[in-house]
Amino acid sequence: MADTKLWKIWVLDFNDEGELIFEKKVVKFDEKFLPVDIDEEHLAQDMSEYLILPTFADLHLHIPQWQFTGIGSGTLLNWLNTYTFPAEKLFEDKTIAYTTARSLLSKLLQTGTTAAVTFVSIHKSAVEEAFYAAKDLNFSLFAGKVLMDQNAPDFLLEDTYKAIEEAAELSEKFGRQHVITPRFAITCSEKLMEKAAFLARKYNLIIQTHMDENVDEIKTTESMYGKPYYKVYEETGLLTPNTLLAHCIHTPKQALETLAKYSSKIVHCPSSNMFLKSGLFNFKTSSNFTTVFIGSDIAGGPNPTMWHTLQQAVYVNKLISQSNEELEVSITELFKSATYKAFEFLGLNEGRIKENFKANFQLVDLRPFEIQLSTLEKLGKLTSQNVLQLLIMNYPLSNPKTFIKGHPLEKA
Ligand code: GUN
Ligand code: FE
Repeated sequence: MADTKLWKIWVLDFNDEGELIFEKKVVKFDEKFLPVDIDEEHLAQDMSEYLILPTFADLHLHIPQWQFTGIGSGTLLNWLNTYTFPAEKLFEDKTIAYTTARSLLSKLLQTGTTAAVTFVSIHKSAVEEAFYAAKDLNFSLFAGKVLMDQNAPDFLLEDTYKAIEEAAELSEKFGRQHVITPRFAITCSEKLMEKAAFLARKYNLIIQTHMDENVDEIKTTESMYGKPYYKVYEETGLLTPNTLLAHCIHTPKQALETLAKYSSKIVHCPSSNMFLKSGLFNFKTSSNFTTVFIGSDIAGGPNPTMWHTLQQAVYVNKLISQSNEELEVSITELFKSATYKAFEFLGLNEGRIKENFKANFQLVDLRPFEIQLSTLEKLGKLTSQNVLQLLIMNYPLSNPKTFIKGHPLEKA
């Protein structure tokens, strides 16, 4: 028998119009959120000192890089050679692939992330192990076999046809959970990118890659291909409405217009962009062209929690808007990119406190914030946005507890 709960509790979530609401409500759930009858509301358990809010979807990270998270230095191209490629080679070992995936996904769940779109490594077996770990943990995982056939160490290069054949096998086996993953233009031949785009169309899959992250990466790409970076992806067919382009920090207006034309999406990875000294992303300008999501980019970004990533997004936006207030984005907009919009893109009934949605949520004890909340109330400033900001900027003091399918995490 499902264990049904009826709670009277503060809820911080988006409504069907996409507005952030903060209100005390009666919520009912077992594995899913259920409709509440007016005549049962008085039976609800009083949880007025707590708040629930949705879980996060992290739309860009690399599972093998969890092995060296927080370690490393330099900028993108030397960091890839020094730290990333040797760590990804270790994923030829299935046991390492499973234990690393399980360790990272557990950490993500503990810190409120219940869905993610990730790179794995070139190894087909490692992708399978990641899916098995996700299934064991009830994690909504979208993951891809990394495709590379040039400009990487020999131990990570594959024959173009073999790489595509294995990606097709994974797509057959895991359907939409398998993500078509050409790493970036430097390590992919045009033939590989064309075949990858074809596969994504054939199976209607998400595509993930990197673009315009680092100035040396951009120069190398443009001199290799003799055209702008975005044209390489456009002409090989990789720009689709299901395409996630990580970073896009240095993307010119013409390229943003092209992304808008194909409705391709951007994933903003603020902590990575600082850790690898890549640059500061202009969220406002980019989101005027297309949808922007948020990613931890483990291990370019050293910290897997989306609370931390959102803090970094706030600080990056403060620097970007330092001399032009029009470039400021609200914390609500950033939060929406990491929750509501991301789950909608993934097509999951998850990420909202809403009837029929999976009962995944984060529970926060409001008592440690009694002074701040009562002050906001006295000043007439107890708005949804201020409550959200209080929780984000004070993480980890807010210490949220993750519930998966209606159960606190340790019982999931
Ligand atoms: N560009 C190509 N590969 C990578 C990677 O693993 N991490 C980051 N941050 N950028 C990349
Ligand atoms: Fe990345």
